[in-house]
Amino acid sequence: MRFSCHDSILPSGDALSRLAAALPESPVRAMYSSLVGGIVTDPAAAVVPVDDHLVHRGDGVFETCICMDGGIYNLPAHLARLAASARRVGLAEPEPENLTDLCVRVVRASGLRDASLRILLARGPGGMGVHPDESRGPQLYLVVTPFPGLLMDRAPEGVEVIRSRVPRYPPSYTEVKTCNYLPNVLMKQEASRRGASFALAFGPEGVLLEGATENVMVVTPDRRLLAPAADGILHGTTVSRALDLAGRLVEEGALAEVTRELLHESDLLRCAEAMLVGTTLGVVPIARYEGRPLGGPEPVVRRLGQLLGEEIRADSRYRVPVGGPRT
Ligand SMILES: Cc1ncc(COP(=O)(O)O)c(C=O)c1O
Repeated sequence: MRFSCHDSILPSGDALSRLAAALPESPVRAMYSSLVGGIVTDPAAAVVPVDDHLVHRGDGVFETCICMDGGIYNLPAHLARLAASARRVGLAEPEPENLTDLCVRVVRASGLRDASLRILLARGPGGMGVHPDESRGPQLYLVVTPFPGLLMDRAPEGVEVIRSRVPRYPPSYTEVKTCNYLPNVLMKQEASRRGASFALAFGPEGVLLEGATENVMVVTPDRRLLAPAADGILHGTTVSRALDLAGRLVEEGALAEVTRELLHESDLLRCAEAMLVGTTLGVVPIARYEGRPLGGPEPVVRRLGQLLGEEIRADSRYRVPVGGPRT
């Protein structure tokens, strides 16, 4: 790989127009930056300073939310997890009302009704070292990109999953949604290399954990819905909603019980149904694991997906409307 360099030092205006030309396919539709104190819609202006420790040390925490049909789904749960992550790495927690207001305003500015909203709480600019005290204070960046729709709607036939061999960070890190996602990145790369879409991580003694950016659940042959209970799993906002909604399936008689338990690969291999669960996925059936078909027809996955989809699109208790012409 070779990189080019202009012969003279570029004036800022030239650098910006060159940047704009270099980003023709940028998905960024709007960005709020606390440094700027405002929202931009030009992708070339949607930037983070290179001396922000977020950039050169991965020093920050984040959330990904979705907005569907003009409503941000489950935002308070994402903000609560962001605050918990911030506490774990010694970053000041943003005020929830202020953050909610900014999230709404940046999504509205994007003009998108279906959007992905990335919330980045960064250590902030100030120096290129590792010491967080170099920073002049935390910064908030909110980035809005188009959301192509829940994976469960785009891949109803299910997905191919493999067992990951990528070493994991210890549980004290993986339980925090930090911007240090190198093992997660390598898991996605590993899955692609092996012709799959997702990889599942296992812990000591073969305990089933989670995917790179999603949780996993199984339905046992005796109709129990189980989510892994091990240490070192990120507490998924979607898994919490899915377990709650699954109470309806117990009432309907489709499930006998809903609980969290220590799970192993054997639970996957002998399950009646298995699924991946996450913000951008919804509830997606695992069609194949390590090349083997898993489970059979998926009544629980489908029904859970239906209930979750209805909640995401239409349940005002879980939606923060972004306003604008068509809401
Ligand atoms: C490591 C990891 N596990 C699980 C999840 C699923 O969490 P949620 O349902 O809140 O999207 C994510 C989400 O990004 C994640 O990064």
